[in-house]
Amino acid sequence: MVSVQPPPEKPMSSVNNNHEDIVLDFLGMPPEIEAGNIFPIEWHEETPQLTDIYEKAKRDAWNPSHLPWNELDPGEWNEEERLGMMYWFGVLANFDASGPAVFAKAMVRSYELHEEDPVRRCLFSVVRDEQNHEEVCGRMIQTLREDGPIGFQPKTELEYLAVRNLKWLYYNGARYWNGYSKALYKYPLAILFSSFLMGEVASSTLFHHMFKHSAHPVFQQAFRNIGKDEARHQAICMRMLENHFKTINAEEKQLVTRQLRAGFVFLSMILFEPPDQFWIIPPDFADVHHKMEDIARGAGLGVATLEQKTENWRQAMLKMKAIVEKHGIAFPAMPEVGISGEEVTNFSEEDLIPVF
Ligand SMILES: [Fe+2]
Ligand SMILES: [Fe+2]
Repeated sequence: MVSVQPPPEKPMSSVNNNHEDIVLDFLGMPPEIEAGNIFPIEWHEETPQLTDIYEKAKRDAWNPSHLPWNELDPGEWNEEERLGMMYWFGVLANFDASGPAVFAKAMVRSYELHEEDPVRRCLFSVVRDEQNHEEVCGRMIQTLREDGPIGFQPKTELEYLAVRNLKWLYYNGARYWNGYSKALYKYPLAILFSSFLMGEVASSTLFHHMFKHSAHPVFQQAFRNIGKDEARHQAICMRMLENHFKTINAEEKQLVTRQLRAGFVFLSMILFEPPDQFWIIPPDFADVHHKMEDIARGAGLGVATLEQKTENWRQAMLKMKAIVEKHGIAFPAMPEVGISGEEVTNFSEEDLIPVF
């Protein structure tokens, strides 16, 4: 039986909230909840197109466990080839296996900012997708090399250098995570989404190439599925930006330009060449990286050649350039891939916001 409490005898009460005495009127409404809290609960929709994308994400759901893993026999390759491919997936993991945590944080932030319901749901769908991508990364690595990517004792010089490179990568990944975590509370979501788009354009480009050029059916199927997810993430970011770019001011435009350059530098590690800016890496990092990539490519993993990377990355950046310039935002110079624009050198770790 439900017992109904009598109304309080004294309808007014005083509580201590954050060292501040506030008077509560129990006959009226409670005090306003401070901004930045996920409460109060509400659902509002401004962009039905995002609801459509969320529904598509539900329909497109796939299960990494259903890939034909039993066809992935590590005995098909020699030790060096397994190491090379494991290394590549280890590099990928720096970007794609950080996805679940990175997007989960962005999703929580979207609740705190009371973004419309479809935005929050879309971010949730991205967290779900990224968990699949992380699972694929982990299963590939551990099929190719038990205790990979960095948990094994290197027995050869090449193994040592591969593990050393990956550890330096993850060291930089940790710097990115620190910067990203602060950026989420420093910039409005509208600014963050331009960096997110940069990451999604990069990942779609990468997986499209990997799908087309990988020889093994497990690689092909995994890359095709992941690529489809990344294309959907790209559509989410595009839709978000179309809303926000309508009201962006001059100062915010400058921020976007700076962050696009930061995104280019961060993502170039996997899409292009290990860059000079941001990354703290040993002087022979790139030599080892190239050697590993050559071995992986020779073993049938569709890693792009430098020539293909330059062209893929250039095309992807031209696509980004067209999107932002349409809204009066200057595109940063990317001389590495032959794109001229605004010179940007002064970005910090908190401008590194791209997500995969
Ligand atoms: Fe991903
Ligand atoms: Fe993504």
